[in-house]
Amino acid sequence: MSKVLTIYSTSHGTTESVANRIHESLICVHKEIVNIKNLDKNISIDNADFIILGTSIHAGAINKSISKFIEDNMSKLKEKNVAIFLCCMNEPAEQEQLYKNFPLELIDSSIACSIVGGEFIFEKMNFVEKLLVKKITGVKGSISKLRDEEIDEFVSKINYFIK
Ligand SMILES: Cc1cc2nc3c(=O)[nH]c(=O)nc-3n(C[C@H](O)[C@H](O)[C@H](O)COP(=O)(O)O)c2cc1C
Repeated sequence: MSKVLTIYSTSHGTTESVANRIHESLICVHKEIVNIKNLDKNISIDNADFIILGTSIHAGAINKSISKFIEDNMSKLKEKNVAIFLCCMNEPAEQEQLYKNFPLELIDSSIACSIVGGEFIFEKMNFVEKLLVKKITGVKGSISKLRDEEIDEFVSKINYFIK
């Protein structure tokens, strides 16, 4: 029976909500979910044989703790099954952002690797973030562009693999 650990980072809660949705849809009994902020304190990755990594893009980059986690644990990750999902809003650049931020060998060996869209949640942005998002994207209020079908497909691939 697979032991699945979902590790995510989030700035305004979007990746967290997608991670929770994925976690809740997994058919396995042994599953845990953790914000990367709490990883060292509570949970070791050694007990898991399947790792789901979820993060978002801000200013072209994924969360630094996720990058460091991948760098520090690359040899362990190679021995496990890995699935990656990425939240972002710059659709034309999404593939480039994925390949810039994750090692190619991790993407290539992953069971599933999905770009699931994202959200702009203005109520959770600080003044500078609001200004930047308005200036760069022209978007002036909260919007969700989460790709439900992509998320469902991501879950299906994992469930098929762990069943
Ligand atoms: C200040 C800011 C910068 C962002 N920069 C990018 C970016 O460079 N590329 C992109 O695709 N999306 C960008 N986004 C969109 C985020 O990836 C999107 O809002 C995502 O849903 C955030 O998820 P989170 O709340 O879990 O961090 C940016 C969002 C904000 C608020």
